[in-house]
Amino acid sequence: MGLASKHLLGISELTPAEIVHVLDTAETFRAISQREIKKVPTLRGRTVINLFFEPSTRTRTSFELAGKRLSADTINISASTSSVTKGETLLDTARNLEAMSPDFIVIRHPSAGAPHALARICRAAVINAGDGAHEHPTQALLDALTIRQHKGRIEGLRVAIIGDLLHSRVARSNMHLLTKLGAEVRLAGPGTLVPAEFQALVAEGDLRVESRIEEAIEGADVVMVLRIQRERQSAAFFPSLREYAVHYGLNLKRLGGAHPDAIVMHPGPMNRGIEIASDVADGSRSLILDQVSNGLAVRMAVLYLLAGGSVLNQNMLAQTKPETATTTDTHAGTTTASAPAERLEPVAAGQTKSDDKRRVKSADHN
Ligand code: CP
Repeated sequence: MGLASKHLLGISELTPAEIVHVLDTAETFRAISQREIKKVPTLRGRTVINLFFEPSTRTRTSFELAGKRLSADTINISASTSSVTKGETLLDTARNLEAMSPDFIVIRHPSAGAPHALARICRAAVINAGDGAHEHPTQALLDALTIRQHKGRIEGLRVAIIGDLLHSRVARSNMHLLTKLGAEVRLAGPGTLVPAEFQALVAEGDLRVESRIEEAIEGADVVMVLRIQRERQSAAFFPSLREYAVHYGLNLKRLGGAHPDAIVMHPGPMNRGIEIASDVADGSRSLILDQVSNGLAVRMAVLYLLAGGSVLNQNMLAQTKPETATTTDTHAGTTTASAPAERLEPVAAGQTKSDDKRRVKSADHN
């Protein structure tokens, strides 16, 4: 089973069954990153363009690695080195990229709705890697995968999402996902950073806006801390960063109000000592780096499912033939060749080389 839509634009458009399907598929792909040779032929011959109009470390790198580990050709384009700097519009940029027949366009853009605009004109599958303060669907999926791995479920958990809710696409995608899967979501932040209409964003499900951070954290199984997005703040939403840390930051004392087994998450990049104290970020309950690892598996799953992936079994995960894949980074202006993947025997017992060929063919036509 693939996904109903050919694009991934937001969590609000996914059904609970589709979300669970992505998470289950990602679990299978996690195994690949734990191998010595981290490559399978699933998307051989496909092209992924990463079109990033905002900075990114985790999302861009993991989409690139996800494509490469699935044997796709991956191209990175950043705004500063694209012809957008010469006045080309986003849609003209997309039309020109489309003329080169990519299979996927992964876009991050400061304007909400930019991926949707591309999806209307592109044959390629468009994946939203963060659009303004609207959605960041793969972040919510990787967060859910991390929660499920550590808590065994999503349904019935109490999740506190605290901090800069106003500017956070991570919060919006997580609100949709967590309520769809039956979690109780408690939101809190400085009054100036909590939009009045938040409650109405989620049509059904258990979502509450608390007036104090401590109320949201009380008894929480998961505490999700949001980054203060200073780059999006044109006004002074709080007196100073020091005051923010004192009144709204997650420190060990505040975390003490959560469930004793509560886990701590942060999408990154962190402002240490502001929204999260270092002893919490680096503490035993922190899953911040697990989130990053899961981001790779989730993005592999999303690429696979949008390519029409159906039967994911051990044969699918057999490793690829030696080949040299290249990635061009237009930001750095360099082209690099990845090391050839070593040929290993197929994973499934009794599988032959002709099985292997059939598997590649069928994956390509799914
Ligand atoms: N969480 C996240 O989106 O991080 P990046 O901005 O580094 O991609």
